[in-house]
Amino acid sequence: MRHERQVELLRRVADAGDHLRGLHAPASMTNPASCYTDQAHFERERQLLFRQGPVFFGLATELSEPGAYRTDTVGGVPIAVVRQADGTLRALVNICRHRGAPVVAPHTTGRVARSFTCPYHGWVFGADGSLLGRPLTAGAFDDVTANCDLHQVAVAERHGLIFVRPGGQEPIDVDGFLSGAQDDLGDFGLQNYVHIESRTSTFHMNWKLVLDTFSESYHIRTLHRDSIAPRFNSDCVIFDPFGRHCVSIGLRADVLDETHKPVEEWSLLPYGTIQYFLVPSGLVVHQLDHVEVWRVEPVDVRTTRVTTSMFAPTPPETEKAMRYWVKNLDLLLQVTTTEDFPLMEQIQANLDSGAMPELVYGRNEPPLIHFHRELARLLA
Ligand code: FES
Ligand SMILES: [Fe+2]
Repeated sequence: MRHERQVELLRRVADAGDHLRGLHAPASMTNPASCYTDQAHFERERQLLFRQGPVFFGLATELSEPGAYRTDTVGGVPIAVVRQADGTLRALVNICRHRGAPVVAPHTTGRVARSFTCPYHGWVFGADGSLLGRPLTAGAFDDVTANCDLHQVAVAERHGLIFVRPGGQEPIDVDGFLSGAQDDLGDFGLQNYVHIESRTSTFHMNWKLVLDTFSESYHIRTLHRDSIAPRFNSDCVIFDPFGRHCVSIGLRADVLDETHKPVEEWSLLPYGTIQYFLVPSGLVVHQLDHVEVWRVEPVDVRTTRVTTSMFAPTPPETEKAMRYWVKNLDLLLQVTTTEDFPLMEQIQANLDSGAMPELVYGRNEPPLIHFHRELARLLA
């Protein structure tokens, strides 16, 4: 992140006054509880946001080698994103054109040498999705006239980020979609980071509650009082909108110390958890010395698959270095999966009871307000 940008952001904190009230949103907001519980609302979100896309798929560094692939479900569509020999990416619909089996094992990563073989009857597909053969069928399919290559959908790569459009082939304009978020995000050199590990869990909560978790620092003081609260500010976050997306920067408790130095020495990076909300599917987080990526896939209105990935700035050369990054991921997931997400599951159950008509988002939760206002606008 450029120095001037860090100074500009830190200046907002320095000028924010008592309990960072200067960072507050202009107005609070109420949101119907049905946004989290209503089946028709969920179907609309899945269709308009996740199926039509674009949807953030992950960091390109995970798929840097020719043949590298990752399979995932996006907006309910099974997709395999594969790095081609010429360096481009393809997003294949991971459904065999014979009778619908997944050609590549679902929810995996790997590297394909030349071709994928369907596990059901052994049809062979190239890394580009083209049907290469139907071994040992003695001409049984010779009268089939339909093209049996794997379907493809749009994929785009820019600033080290991959986006897909599971619902079709209309090209993705990444910069247009990011609406300015790329100005800071591009500076992080995400393509140079190294994937350490990803872990996936399924939670009984609406997909938005995953993103809500990261959208304010207000809960740190109480929910995380026995873990991270002493080290972090709980008053407000720095917030900037980028179209439907936004950045939410959580602050260390001692952030104001930095503003007592000469301005040429100011640095936000040691004090900020810089979280880019890439709506609808995830977060890219720069934290001190590493990058974390969160991806959400709505399974149904109250079930969400969540994948957390850890990326290091350089390849870990020793086992000790590797352990350091794995431990970092352990700690991150320990706080979220023992403190944040169990509470979010209780919130989901409470909202499902129908006994609470609406939620209230305060002025000290600006990214939360922006996220839900944008969703309302996009779904209108
Ligand atoms: S379903 Fe793939 S070969 Fe039959
Ligand atoms: Fe939290």
